[in-house]
Amino acid sequence: MANDILITHIKGLAQVREQSVEFLSGTAMDELPVIADSYLLISDGFISDYGKMENLPTVKAQETIDASGRFVFPSFVDSHTHLVFAASREEEFVMKIKGATYAEIAAKGGGILNSAKKLREASEDELFEKALARAYEIIHLGTGAVEIKSGYGLTVKDELKMLRVARRIGKETPLTVKTTFLGAHAIPLEMKKPDYVKLVIEEMIPAVAEENLADYIDVFCEEGFFSQHETEIIVESGKKFGMKPRIHANQLHRSGGVQAGVKTGAISVDHLENIGDDEIQLLKKTGIMSTALPGAAFFLNLPFPPARKMIAEGLPLALASDYNPGSSPSGNMQLMLSLACIKMKMTPEEVFNSTTINTAYALDLSKTHGSITRGKKANIYITKPAPSVAYLPYHFGNNFVGSIILNGKRID
Ligand code: NIG
Ligand code: FE
Repeated sequence: MANDILITHIKGLAQVREQSVEFLSGTAMDELPVIADSYLLISDGFISDYGKMENLPTVKAQETIDASGRFVFPSFVDSHTHLVFAASREEEFVMKIKGATYAEIAAKGGGILNSAKKLREASEDELFEKALARAYEIIHLGTGAVEIKSGYGLTVKDELKMLRVARRIGKETPLTVKTTFLGAHAIPLEMKKPDYVKLVIEEMIPAVAEENLADYIDVFCEEGFFSQHETEIIVESGKKFGMKPRIHANQLHRSGGVQAGVKTGAISVDHLENIGDDEIQLLKKTGIMSTALPGAAFFLNLPFPPARKMIAEGLPLALASDYNPGSSPSGNMQLMLSLACIKMKMTPEEVFNSTTINTAYALDLSKTHGSITRGKKANIYITKPAPSVAYLPYHFGNNFVGSIILNGKRID
């Protein structure tokens, strides 16, 4: 076994779990195990050992890093993004500043349809180059695994193009990538909804499955987009081809998205700005990961999901970036930590659990990602010098990631 990297004198080795846990819910979310004055050993791309400095074994490593004054964390797992897109949409940002709503912009052919128009004009290579730049942007902010959705193609050919680009990001960067088919993201201008739903079910899903391009299937379950019933039939069709459901639920209204998720056995229901008590009760003991996207709530000035109530009811909660050009043009998970602390009253311990263990569960990556556990992938970052864990989300807007190691290799 080759010892690649030994990190010594770590001020705090965070999120250490002897045994890998599936996910954390309720009060358990407030516990973040940290070993003070510790070491971490990485061998052959995996975490092979860790412990207190006083128990450091005599080992030879290719590289030794002194992490005095710094924390070490497992990399973020970002379980909800749309990071393959052709162009930014700051013109809509300005419209919103001047008073237009997200729904009004969408109704005028802006929003998702605006992104679809631009994506259809872009070649697969152009799209890849743009997505690649965003992939490295999030790597440098501490993300090690990411979910990427389609949904800006809205034709068979363009949905496939997006998903091929997403898969390529997984092959050509150090990121671990999971992909989601979100053909039912909006109804293209040239089609009537029933015809589009038919196209999604009868042509897109089989074509995506044929090339094995998607691990999951998602639907934007929302007024003016897809109803609860349409969501259920679309994700059930995806399930037949091996794609697990995850749902855009309750972003703008109480859309029935949570109910659709519970009925179809989704792995996660995401957004939840407009979740009600009934939905909270429904989600209890289902094993479905409730996922808040604080970047989107912040950017669109929506209410934030009622995290305190959800956690008090014993639910698990995850946090993802929703990186996309329309409602959350940031893939910065560190910003999500701060927003969740400030706007959702989550504790620093809860937000780190929500962005590592719980998002890893939402991407079926619990066995390999999300914690410092022997045998897991060596996806970690060393912070810049910091006095405490709470300092990290407190000092918002600053990049606290100092050094990055993905798959056991240093990233420059
Ligand atoms: O998660 N809500 C639907 N989809 C994206 C936004 C897409 C867009 O505006 O381009 C979201 O917020
Ligand atoms: Fe989204």
